[in-house]
Amino acid sequence: MRPPKGSHSGARSPRKDHLVTLVEPPPIPRAAGSLPLFGHLFRLFPDPLPFIASLRHRYGPMVEITLQPGTRTLVVQDPALIHAMLRDPIASTLDKGHFFDEMRELLGDSVVTVAGEEHSAKRRQMYPAFARPELGRYVEIMRTVTQAELDTWESGRRMDVRETMISLSLDMLTKTIFSDRLDAGTFRELRQNMAAVMDSIGLRIMIPGWAKRLPLPLNRRFDTARTAIRATISEAVTELRTSGQDLDGGDMLSVLMTVHDEQTGRPLTDEQISNEILTLALAGTENTATVLAWVLYELARHPAIEADVLGELEEVLGDRPITFANAGRLPVLDRVIKEVLRLHVTGFLLTRRTLTETKLGPWTLPAGTNLAYCQHALHRDPDLYPDPLRFDPDRWLDSAQKPPQGALLPWGAGKHRCIGDRFAMLELIVGLATILRQARFTLAPGQTVRPVARVTVRPGKMMMTVESR
Ligand code: HEM
Repeated sequence: MRPPKGSHSGARSPRKDHLVTLVEPPPIPRAAGSLPLFGHLFRLFPDPLPFIASLRHRYGPMVEITLQPGTRTLVVQDPALIHAMLRDPIASTLDKGHFFDEMRELLGDSVVTVAGEEHSAKRRQMYPAFARPELGRYVEIMRTVTQAELDTWESGRRMDVRETMISLSLDMLTKTIFSDRLDAGTFRELRQNMAAVMDSIGLRIMIPGWAKRLPLPLNRRFDTARTAIRATISEAVTELRTSGQDLDGGDMLSVLMTVHDEQTGRPLTDEQISNEILTLALAGTENTATVLAWVLYELARHPAIEADVLGELEEVLGDRPITFANAGRLPVLDRVIKEVLRLHVTGFLLTRRTLTETKLGPWTLPAGTNLAYCQHALHRDPDLYPDPLRFDPDRWLDSAQKPPQGALLPWGAGKHRCIGDRFAMLELIVGLATILRQARFTLAPGQTVRPVARVTVRPGKMMMTVESR
């Protein structure tokens, strides 16, 4: 398009234009504190969060660090660049990168580990499990499971709230996937094995490949649990296939058994189903549990906000249990969850890798460049959120104060945005509406809980006392 007469660009001399094309993009700085052989290992251990957060203040839109000895990763810090990276056309030139290479070892090819057309096809296959009628059916399961958990709590007991929420979200997800197809013993075993896998995967991401093959207790525990989980899932699938039972059982397993592989036109194989179920179990348990735990913590620290939430629950639900229909009519609780998803976002370093030469902002990155972004540091940036460490659900009251694109990413964005976002929101709303009306959590005077980064960012030890309301 021709520039308007008299505009600056119109007045630019040909010589200047020539100069503009020669201007080099600024060099990408390397973060200080790197040691030969070890890179930033000692800045990342034992707690990587302060180091990653400090990068935002010290460096510009992009900075290079060493995540694993011998590798280089560019941390993308500018919201606009992160937004560009997660969306097409750039997103199609990337695969999932280092973090997901590790996941692939456990999950095989699944919607969370693959990229490109294969990913789009897998994602389409998964959609029916998250469709509106299915979500409506899952609410009943979520509520029953939460009530069963609540019934085991004694008033006055001090409990590790994160552990309790992990167990609750594992139960919610496992029951949503299998409904009552597993007997109590198998179900307990599955839960234990899933918890073991989740615990060890955080460490495995930081250690080099050869160390994972050593006969260490950590590796043995991981291998045993992984084999057992796969065996349980395969047995459940085989049993359902051979039993001739109605597949419309209202659970995710039956939904996955009715979808077809887009390439072969055949039903998914046992292995494909197994990979996807393991993916859902891993992607969908720890995050939800962490958010539940932080909500209970923040409400315990902010009695006035807790009173507002309870008032709303009373007004909308009265004594009735929460349903799919009224889960969307709780704006105060919704803002509380949104603020927890900002302040205590679970995402630590999400990775990508360029498959071809890729232009990101002014830089041209060669194929094979490792990229990452940190939601946690982003969501606590004072330039994006005034008084960022303050828990303030009311900051979401004024919709005009929307953060810039790429600045609020609890669910990620673009083609890999969380497929379970609506499912997770339902778990959070149903779980909290059920718990908060019956139980009150308190902290010891002056007690604070710090976030720690593992696979995700999660609360450190969170001991709280539960009392019946
Ligand atoms: C509060 C809870 C949750 C949070 C904060 C969360 C967050 C995220 C984020 C940030 C991503 C994007 C990862 C990336 O860009 O690489 C993601 C992807 C994903 N999530 Fe969630 N998630 C939650 C709950 C769930 C649940 C409950 C499920 C399933 C039942 C689930 C299944 C998935 C799957 C399958 C993907 C991969 C999507 C794809 O690559 O197409 N998530 N999640």
